[in-house]
This record gives sequence, structure tokens and C-alpha cells, in this order.
Amino acid sequence: MKTILFLVGSLRVESMNRRVSLIAERMLPEGYEATRFDLIDVPIFNADLRAEHTPASVSALRAAIAHADGVFWTSPEYNFALPSVVKNAIDWACRPMLPRNPIVGKPMNVVVATESPSYGVRALADIKRIWGNCAGVPVGFDYVVHEAPSKFVMEDGVEKFEPVSRQRLQLNVDNLVRAIDADAGAVALANWDAWVESMSS
Ligand SMILES: Cc1cc2nc3c(=O)[nH]c(=O)nc-3n(C[C@H](O)[C@H](O)[C@H](O)COP(=O)(O)O)c2cc1C
Repeated sequence: MKTILFLVGSLRVESMNRRVSLIAERMLPEGYEATRFDLIDVPIFNADLRAEHTPASVSALRAAIAHADGVFWTSPEYNFALPSVVKNAIDWACRPMLPRNPIVGKPMNVVVATESPSYGVRALADIKRIWGNCAGVPVGFDYVVHEAPSKFVMEDGVEKFEPVSRQRLQLNVDNLVRAIDADAGAVALANWDAWVESMSS
């Protein structure tokens, strides 16, 4: 059984991105299971909080990412950028950086849901760029759910997307699954290990 960790960049109880995350979770194929980690208890990054001073929620976040075969983010955009909740989680997860941190080689996809008919792609690009900067492996395609409130439908008591958005979301889930099945993180891991080795020689 392979595992995808679903992370949400909005802490709001009624978050649309949380609702999208739950819809995406139900799109996983056989052989995959979902795990979730709520970022609400993760404190603001502080590099003094290391080793035995590491907050328990941070250790749990790192373990959740390490345990997962891939990560599926859903997130809003704030002020034409990624939310601080997402940046904060990535900053914690990528430390200690050496010899490996849990983001290295980890396939990741992200979907941004926004009320806007046109904004959102900047947050999406930020998250992919920063994940890649940590030697994680962002996968395609770029999908922003514009005018998101109009995309949710109820079917038999279960919240879903309308058909066009459903297809787009399924593609993004499937792309992450394909990346995991193809061991897409292997090269990033090998390159990271080679870099670490080169620093010690
Ligand atoms: C501080 C702040 C800044 C925002 N800036 C943007 C923005 O730049 N682009 C955008 O599409 N929406 C922006 N919004 C609207 C949010 O994207 C919208 O509220 C989002 O859908 C909330 O996601 P959620 O339902 O998952 O909490 C902003 C909202 C807040 C609170």
C-alpha cells in the first residue's frame, strides 16, 4: 500500500481548499491510501528550536512527510503569493537539511482553489518552486480552481466537483500517482546524496 499525504494551506474550518482536498482523497486508485496532517498546531519557524527543543508538532509533520510516498497540497493564494502556513511547513520540514530531509525526492502536486476568476497561479508557482528548491519533485499540471464556490456539487450526500473540474482534479491526482509509481524521486535523491558526498570529500 502506498501513501499520499494531504496537506491544506488554509486553517479555516470552512476552507474550500480543505473540501477540495477531501474530494481529491476519494480519487485515489486502488493500492493507495490517504493520510492527513493538520498544520494548525505547527508554530512559526524558529531555528533555535532544534534537537531536543523541536516542537512535537514539527517532529510529527516531518515524520508524516517522510512516511508518505507523495504529498498533495491544496492551498489558497494570499496577496499574490503562497500562504505563510505553507511556507512555514516547508521551512520546518526541510530542516535539519543534512544528510537528507523528508522533502528530498518527494513527489508533490498542488491545486489552488480561489474565489477569483483569474488569480491563484502565483501561489501555485510559489509552492512548486519552493518544493523544488528543497529537492522535492513537483509534478504537473498546473491547476487553479477558479470561482471555486461554483464547482462543488452534492451527489448522494457526498461532496464532489462538477464534471469538468472533477476531470481536472482527477488528472492532477493521477499525475502524482504516476510520478510515485515511476519512482520519479530517484534522480533527485541520487543528486542530493552526490551533493552531500561532494561536500564531505
Ligand atoms: C489576506 C488575504 C489575501 C488574499 N489574497 C488573494 C490573492 O492574492 N489571490 C486570490 O486568488 N485570493 C486571495 N484571497 C482570497 C482567498 O484566496 C480566498 O479567500 C480563498 O479561496 C480562501 O481559501 P479557503 O477557502 O481554503 O480558506 C485572499 C484572502 C486573504 C485572507
